[in-house]
Amino acid sequence: MNLFLAPIQGITMACYRNSFAKIFGGIDAYYSPFITTSDIKKASPSLFKDLLPEHNDAAVKMVPQLLSNDGSDFRLFASALVDMGYNEINWNIGCPFPMVTNKKKGAGILPYPDMLKKFLDIACGDSNYKITVKMRLGLDNPEEGMDVIKLLNEYPLSGVIIHARTGIQMYTGNVDLDSFEVLHSACNHEATYNGDIFTFEDFKRIQDRFPSIKNFMLGRGALRNPFLPSIIKGQIIPSTDKMSMIRHFHDEIYNHYKNTLFGDRHLCDKMREFWFYMSVHTDKDGKFMKKIKKCQSAADYLDTINLILNPSCMWSNSPLR
Ligand SMILES: Cc1cc2nc3c(=O)[nH]c(=O)nc-3n(C[C@H](O)[C@H](O)[C@H](O)COP(=O)(O)O)c2cc1C
Repeated sequence: MNLFLAPIQGITMACYRNSFAKIFGGIDAYYSPFITTSDIKKASPSLFKDLLPEHNDAAVKMVPQLLSNDGSDFRLFASALVDMGYNEINWNIGCPFPMVTNKKKGAGILPYPDMLKKFLDIACGDSNYKITVKMRLGLDNPEEGMDVIKLLNEYPLSGVIIHARTGIQMYTGNVDLDSFEVLHSACNHEATYNGDIFTFEDFKRIQDRFPSIKNFMLGRGALRNPFLPSIIKGQIIPSTDKMSMIRHFHDEIYNHYKNTLFGDRHLCDKMREFWFYMSVHTDKDGKFMKKIKKCQSAADYLDTINLILNPSCMWSNSPLR
């Protein structure tokens, strides 16, 4: 059984992935947030910065992700990634945001099998890299996803990750396990389940329902509870260690952004994103999150964090206990 960390734009960047792997572990591969392909001659080198081998711990398996609807651009970007040492490239056809889907990218390409075919004919023509796909059930409905799966079956892909929602659902509503079942049964490639695994019980329920699925991708659940992947893998983490592990993780991320972002304002904004996920366990009534939102200086922020990262702040049924 493999567990993958889902890409979350702005959060699961190199420093996050490296620290997560070192402190919590339990993840077999980390997928990077997407970079958008364009004319590679005009692409800024800073686009690739987060993927550079010097920023990524060699022991941490990382799969870079591209957002594209142009096979030639994809191929050139993928070649650049091969030169950086990667041999698997993940293609994002799941991003649900209208500014992406309106351009027939991300989940916006799912209703257009001809475009997908044209893309795959070109993108799959280079044997220097393997392609995996991360998709939704469809943009508007799961019938679209079925047509996509049939098409993907015709190409030499190395796997298909299915987030069990349609694009128009964005991140709301329930995952549609019946449609996932239909799609993954029709898929000839190795399938990965993704969507709403927040607890060990969620994982078990999905594993029991789909015994042939061997790969699971965790996103927000792992960001909220970074111990979850290890717990799923059967590891027992003494509760006395948990707060110091969270502190260590926080401090590594904080120090990284302190050294790379310009000014306290940006630093506080970035750390707010971190706490957006984590505070669900440390802040039952939203009191600390309100304080964090108000912080404008690193000193204010650290004072607040010292209050939060205190075992008495976690309520008794928090999984972080
Ligand atoms: C803020 C945010 C940013 C995301 N960025 C990406 C991304 O860059 N690439 C991608 O494939 N999915 C992205 N996703 C989707 C997640 O990878 C994942 O598929 C989704 O959250 C469902 O899994 P979960 O329920 O385990 O979180 C993002 C999700 C969120 C909430």
